[in-house]
Amino acid sequence: MSAQSPFRIALSRRGFPGIDEIALPDGVELVAPPEGEAPDDAALRHLAAGCQALVVGTPDRVDAELFAAAPELRVVALVAVGFDNVDLDAAREAGVVVTHTPGVLSDATADLTFALILMARRRLVDATDTMRAGGWGPFDPQAFLGLDVGGTTLGVVGYGSIGQAVGRRAAGFGMTVLQHSRSPKPEDGIATAVDLDELLERSDVVSLNVPRTPETAGLIGARELDLIGPRGTLVSTARGGVVDENALLAALREGRLHSAGLDVFATEPVRDPADPLLHEPRLVVFPHIGSATVETRTAMTRMALRNVLAVAAGEDAPNVVPPLR
Ligand code: NAP
Ligand code: GLV
Repeated sequence: MSAQSPFRIALSRRGFPGIDEIALPDGVELVAPPEGEAPDDAALRHLAAGCQALVVGTPDRVDAELFAAAPELRVVALVAVGFDNVDLDAAREAGVVVTHTPGVLSDATADLTFALILMARRRLVDATDTMRAGGWGPFDPQAFLGLDVGGTTLGVVGYGSIGQAVGRRAAGFGMTVLQHSRSPKPEDGIATAVDLDELLERSDVVSLNVPRTPETAGLIGARELDLIGPRGTLVSTARGGVVDENALLAALREGRLHSAGLDVFATEPVRDPADPLLHEPRLVVFPHIGSATVETRTAMTRMALRNVLAVAAGEDAPNVVPPLR
């Protein structure tokens, strides 16, 4: 870095929490779209051109076209742990380091997972909507009857950082915890490892916490939902496309699954007010906000910038994404 050759960091969003409090070394400059603006693919390429670093979120696609448009890029830093929006092969070919923010968002995302579980199983959206509409009538012992959460069995699919944080919360609820993961996990006194079908059959609540990869795309379809069954709840804070949304809607409508909660969708954002995903009474929906707390997003921004500044200083970035396997 020198006055002659500034190190330019392109932010895909102006509003990454905490960004303005980060002290930048001399010679490092930030460029960003105006507050509230989100670039499309072409605008992101335009933004990244001439920059050495690009800071992105989950909706930003980073691919060979972008690397071609921004030949000076040395690092792409995700303000996210999931990296399915980045073409890692293209990054490797372009010689660009890709970093992410593991760990710092696990508790916030696990908290939100529990919000989905409680809201879905206890029918809390119905209850709030009814009350807001003035519909709280005389006591009806059948009104808003949900199903227990405490004391039931939770199955975590993908027992990584977030999955384990979900497991710890479940233990506090007196739940029996099962887990299914790609590779064996050390015994933690909380979860028992089982195969996927056994997990689906035995669990009252199933939480999806896998990354989106070719193996996890469509992991949960009609057959798997039927294994969970009519008293079961499925929640996902993983990625859209891990659950077959049409199969999920059909299972809910036909009473083959009690309830569900989704923070992530095959196509985001879900904008069409007529989208059936927004109108299924037993489906709780959130707009991809697993990590959306001030503290967590600030920690993610700082971590992303630490990675960028390490590369700017000619050091190894601390949080390079693991290779896909
Ligand atoms: P992580 O620590 O890497 O955990 C993912 C776990 O899934 C790992 O244990 C991994 O196994 C396992 N896994 C991978 N492929 C699998 C497969 N085919 N079958 C079974 N298990 C599989 O990641 P994390 O930090 O917990 O995050 C998980 C995902 O959550 C992210 O990739 C992201 O997509 C999503 N996420 C969403 C939000 C949100 O706002 N909704 C926020 C944060 C993250 P190994 O141990 O063998 O690798
Ligand atoms: C959010 O979805 C993340 O992967 O961090």
